[in-house]
This record gives sequence, structure tokens and C-alpha cells, in this order.
Amino acid sequence: MEGVIDAVTRDLLTRTPGFDWVVTEFVRVVDARLPPRVFHRHCPELAHPGVTTPSGVPVQLQLLGSDPEALAANARQALRLGATGLDLNFGCPAKLVNRHDGGASLLRDPRRVHAAVSAVSRAVGDEIPVTAKIRLGFSDRRLALACALATQEAGARRLVVHGRTRDEGYRPPAHWEWIGRIHQRLSIPVVANGDIWTLEDYWKARTLSGCRDVMLGRGALADPWLAARIRHWQATGERLPDTPWEARARILADFAALQRSTLPTRVVTALIKQWLNHMRQRDHEAARRFQAVKRLRELDALLAGLEPPATANRPPFPVRADHRAEPA
Ligand SMILES: Cc1cc2nc3c(=O)[nH]c(=O)nc-3n(C[C@H](O)[C@H](O)[C@H](O)COP(=O)(O)O)c2cc1C
Repeated sequence: MEGVIDAVTRDLLTRTPGFDWVVTEFVRVVDARLPPRVFHRHCPELAHPGVTTPSGVPVQLQLLGSDPEALAANARQALRLGATGLDLNFGCPAKLVNRHDGGASLLRDPRRVHAAVSAVSRAVGDEIPVTAKIRLGFSDRRLALACALATQEAGARRLVVHGRTRDEGYRPPAHWEWIGRIHQRLSIPVVANGDIWTLEDYWKARTLSGCRDVMLGRGALADPWLAARIRHWQATGERLPDTPWEARARILADFAALQRSTLPTRVVTALIKQWLNHMRQRDHEAARRFQAVKRLRELDALLAGLEPPATANRPPFPVRADHRAEPA
């Protein structure tokens, strides 16, 4: 997620078992082949063998653009740099991105979605998988199925569907039943996305969409143990307890410690508030702490306002390390 889930956040979120894979912030492709440093900035994991987070979870590099040739050139560049999977973004609703003909704006014409996916698929051949992420449309859902089919026909190996149109922005609800219509018609795996904040949301999204897999966005920031919570339920049929404040404070403290080695402290302060803002959507104590610290400008004062972090260096729950996705 652009401006939110960088390599440090991916590292922290994947320290507890739960995620099968994670995706970088999008690399914006306009018309030129981008230099290696741009790819490394978005995906420092390219320097790790296998392109994984430090805990070994695969990282997919995401491209956003509309020019098939430029996308292909950058896909080849990513492949040369060691990328092990490429994801194409057709979901971004940002006005600036859409004005420059990127993200969800391509959903107005399935042929353009097809051209983009096909160019990237041809560019990387069978060497690495190409996947895509769409919304249900730009202004309405009439072309939802056509766009989804276009990604499949053009060679996408998996499709993530965010159950809203671009014009719906992030307004609830996410239309999981519409994802189900797409899932029924496609032969590639379809992953349901949008508004999965809790285990109950996961159950509903899974039931209504029929999809075996879901993608977590803001829900994983609001509750960094949501993926583990889902996995634990899949493996045992039991619920984990709610995430305690101490665990949340610990992850924010770890985040600050990692980020402050490379970023100015004022930036780290803003990033911590941003993450706490996500947490407060779903947690009473996080909401209380947010109110107390939101005007603080010094990083250390902010961190003091979040104490006490748990001192023990262990996961907050007894999460089994051998959780695996359910069999297909
Ligand atoms: C701040 C922000 C940045 C995002 N950046 C990206 C991005 O770079 N690539 C992408 O595929 N989706 C991006 N998304 C969309 C999310 O991946 C997800 O599809 C959307 O938030 C709905 O899922 P959720 O309700 O679980 O958050 C972003 C969303 C937000 C709120």
C-alpha cells in the first residue's frame, strides 16, 4: 500500500506466521525504463535471496502504468534485478494517477487491461508469474467481468479483486458477492479484497465470494495479527484473544527503531501516527492513545506516550509456526 506498507512494515507484519505473500507499494511506470535504484527503493527485498521478507515471505513487485511497451520494458528490468513475481495495479483510485491514465482508469476499457497484462506476460515469459489487481469498475460494475476475464486471457496467473468501483473509493460496503461472480467465471485463483477487518469479516467475505484466499489491506494495519488470527482459526477452529495494547505498542516501538536508522525523526513521527491512526479504527486503547499523542512532534515523546511496550521479545499469542494455507 503506497505510503503505508514499506519494507520495514512488511518485515514487521510477516514476523508472525500468517501471510502467504506480500506486495510492494506500486512502482509508477510512465514511458521510460526506470533505473535499478527505483526498483530497489520500492523493493529492498530484491537484495535478499528469493526476494522475501526477512522471515521468508515472498514479496511481489507491483507496477502501475498504462503504456504496454513501457510496462514490458520495466517488467524486463524487474526480472533482470531478480524479481520473482510481478503484480499489475488496476485499482488505484487516486485522481492524479487516474488523470495520467493509470490504476483504475484502465478499467473503462478491458482491451487496455488485456494489452497491459499481455505485454508484461510476454516480456517475462514463463520465468516469473504475472498477477493483477482490479476493482469492480471505474464508475459502475458493467465491465467488472470483462476486465477480470481480460487479465486471465492475457496471462495473469492470479487476480485480486477489490470489491468496489473506483468511484466508491473506500466507502463500505465492499461487494464480496460481486467478487463471487468473477470467481465463478475465472479458472485462475481469485482473491477477495476489501473491508476485511476481523475474523467475522473473513468468514463473510469467504462465504459470499466463494474465494479460498483473501487479501488484507487496512485491516492488517489496524490489527497486525489479523492474518495470524485467520490462520489460527483455519488450523484449529479456535479464536485467538484480541490483540492486547502491549503487542501494538511493541510493534510501533520496533517500527520506530527500524525506521529511525534511515529516516529523519519527524518523518518517523508522522509514520507512527499514521499507523496508530489505522489501529485506532478498531481498538479502544489505540484510540485513547492517539488522542493523547496526536499533537506531539518529538519522536521520543510520542513513543513515551505509547508505553508500556511489552518487554518480552516473543509473539503476543501462542501462534503455531507451522500454519499453512488450507489444501485447495
Ligand atoms: C493508503 C492506501 C494505499 C494503497 N496503496 C495501494 C497500492 O500501492 N497498491 C495496491 O494494489 N493497492 C493499494 N491500496 C488498496 C489496498 O491494497 C486495498 O485494495 C484496499 O485498501 C481495500 O482493502 P482493505 O479494505 O482491506 O484496505 C491502497 C490503499 C490505501 C488505503
